[in-house]
Amino acid sequence: AQTVGRDGDGVVTVGGIPVTRLAEEFGTPTYVMDEADFRARARAWRTAFGHEADVFYAGKAFLSRAVVRWLHEEGLNLDVCSGGELATALSAGMPADRIAFHGNNKSTEEIHRAIDAGVGRIVLDSFQEIVRVAHIASSLGKRQRVQIRITVGVEAHTHEFIATAHEDQKFGIPLAGGQAAEAVRRALQLDGLELIGIHSHIGSQIFDMSGFEVAAHRVVGLLKDIRDEHGVELPEIDLGGGLGIAYTSDDDPSEPHEIAKALTEIVSRECDAAKLRTPRISVEPGRAIVGPTAFTLYEVGTIKPLDGLRTYVSVDGGMSDNIRTALYDAEYSVALVSRTSDAEPMLARVVGKHCESGDIVVKDAFLPADVAPGDLIAVPATGAYCRSMASNYNHVLRPPVVAVNDGEARVIVRRETEEDLLRLDVG
Ligand code: LLP
Repeated sequence: AQTVGRDGDGVVTVGGIPVTRLAEEFGTPTYVMDEADFRARARAWRTAFGHEADVFYAGKAFLSRAVVRWLHEEGLNLDVCSGGELATALSAGMPADRIAFHGNNKSTEEIHRAIDAGVGRIVLDSFQEIVRVAHIASSLGKRQRVQIRITVGVEAHTHEFIATAHEDQKFGIPLAGGQAAEAVRRALQLDGLELIGIHSHIGSQIFDMSGFEVAAHRVVGLLKDIRDEHGVELPEIDLGGGLGIAYTSDDDPSEPHEIAKALTEIVSRECDAAKLRTPRISVEPGRAIVGPTAFTLYEVGTIKPLDGLRTYVSVDGGMSDNIRTALYDAEYSVALVSRTSDAEPMLARVVGKHCESGDIVVKDAFLPADVAPGDLIAVPATGAYCRSMASNYNHVLRPPVVAVNDGEARVIVRRETEEDLLRLDVG
């Protein structure tokens, strides 16, 4: 978060509020989100792309009604990928025509609801869905604006589970073997569809722009083939999300304006070479907007020094509020935030309270050797894919999200309660 400092007692403050006060008022663990930072990042993406491009925030990274309102106010659009995300977006007043609907297996009911609500675009992900969406749109007397998601065959340099444009995975329609061209042929024939563009998302937590370059080259190649075969120039291309953020000081992400410049230059260069009108570009950053804006505040519980190895520092949450370390071997950092300490650094592993040894939040970290039960520690950069992927494993209650801004803190997603848990258990 941007507005982080320390007060006179050495307590870390965010948005002008000491973390000790946040812990007292809201308990721990808590995701603390810096609203000013979120808005600044959203705005930076918006202004970097200007009026020639659209920014769709990827709601899967983190979605709540407050966030939808901030995005709306900052002029961003929204990418949703389930009925639940759609419902959240609509209930917070995001205009339907600024919503894109994604997913590799949207249900008939979800498609119906999205078209009925008037979403700005549905991103078609399979041959079956082309027919399904066309059919439902026609039955509602509508012509739905759609893009076709293609897989361009790029190996993005990221974890296998979050790379999405290589051939052997479930998303999109392969460019290879003329399948994408065939999908376009079919979509253009159906009355219920207005094909507005081609979509490509190559993966997530990417730093190297070369994957986007190859993707843009191949998408523009398809646009050219479409023009040659059908005499139509599709007006839009979407290059997806996936821009990496700094989880540790080893990562060095680009700024939105650098990314915008690189992407728009690649697309216009490719289009000039193909003698195509440059289409309107859209992008779908999730992590890059919300990731750095929140940290998780934990209270230290038991501490177990293992001679010659490391010290296990247990916190009051764990893999239920941050599955990324266990799932992707993700790296995080940690800091003591409720006080300063002059003690020697000690090699620590921050672990949770769950019943398995893979329940690790921060694999390798240095904490002051005098860290003690009751101290507060913070794990930065947990705004993306932590609350949104949180679980109730071991019936641990999911933490709240508290937004801080200008000296004020308010709950935007409340802490789960045992009543919440038991309400679903109707046996
Ligand atoms: N657009 C599409 C079509 C996507 O599938 C995704 C992410 C995004 C945009 C946003 O990507 P971002 O800018 O946030 O990287 N749970 C994983 C990440 C999964 C990403 C899935 N799709 C993680 O925690 O790293």
